[in-house]
Amino acid sequence: MAGGKTLAVVGAGAMGGQIAYQAALHGYDVRLISRSEDRLRAAVSSCSALLHRRVEKGRLDAGACEAALARVTPGSAFDAVAGAQTIIESVAEDRAVKLEVYVRICEHADDTAIIGTNSSTLPSSLLESAVTHSERFLNIHFFNPALLMALVEVVPGPHTAEDAILRAMDFARAIGKTPVRLAREEYGFIANRILFIAIQEAMRLVQGGYISVEDCDLAMRNALGWPMGPFQLSDLVGLDVVEAILDEGFRQTGDRRWEPVELLRDLVARGRLGNKTGGGFFTT
Ligand code: CAA
Repeated sequence: MAGGKTLAVVGAGAMGGQIAYQAALHGYDVRLISRSEDRLRAAVSSCSALLHRRVEKGRLDAGACEAALARVTPGSAFDAVAGAQTIIESVAEDRAVKLEVYVRICEHADDTAIIGTNSSTLPSSLLESAVTHSERFLNIHFFNPALLMALVEVVPGPHTAEDAILRAMDFARAIGKTPVRLAREEYGFIANRILFIAIQEAMRLVQGGYISVEDCDLAMRNALGWPMGPFQLSDLVGLDVVEAILDEGFRQTGDRRWEPVELLRDLVARGRLGNKTGGGFFTT
């Protein structure tokens, strides 16, 4: 079925996969596109396990679960974006890679489709040159894990038309999320601007010998009710991703608060990237 409730997600990493299944749970037919068969397989199997667990816990109807799983069609061909009214790009945080992907998307996308980039670090104004209808292009930013975190930031660039912003807001609501709309682009948008500066401060305290990683997390959970402390959360996000967000923040703003501290640099250099490598600040 093509049309309003058809979504294409390009990129099947941790974010793209969960965005796809979140939409499928809300009745969307989803084409999940990746050049990597392994990533597609991993996305299907991890999301399928998460949804089945919800069924076991009585929080999701078994029929609804199977219907959602069947609504996601994985594949590697970009022509699958044709017919989708919403397209979300969630590939690597690399401008050159993204630009190449937009060219491929625009070869097949409907003229009326909105294209959202899930980029955390690249505002759509740094990417729009590769998008044919940039008036329907903007940041639509999800949080990790996307099946659980409610917030979606909708961030228009100067090129984005009002209608596309409203459609992005409606899309986020239609898949059960809570959208917030920024008036204009700002590095880190809202949540990451606040969160990653806070994570840096936590790392400075540990680096300075004031507190342990464990106690700093305990403090933030108990003082501010954070569900995870800054170090456990960094391990979830991936330390390479944390470093890249900070590096790019420093590059784009010149503000030294973003400049990654040595403690983080050192872990990333040693390949301790967080949960995905079995350890970061903590060993999993
Ligand atoms: N993906 C999907 N589901 C996950 C998950 C993951 N990575 N981790 C845990 N869950 C699920 C579990 O399967 C479990 O589901 P069931 O109840 O169905 O079994 C449920 O979440 C609860 O899990 P736990 O009891 O093990 O753990 P928890 O109570 O601590 O909840 C959490 C997990 C919801 C992730 C919670 O700890 C939390 O909200 N953490 C903060 C996450 C956060 O701040 N995210 C933003 C990161 S920044 C970002 O994403 C921006 C960016 O641009 C990088």
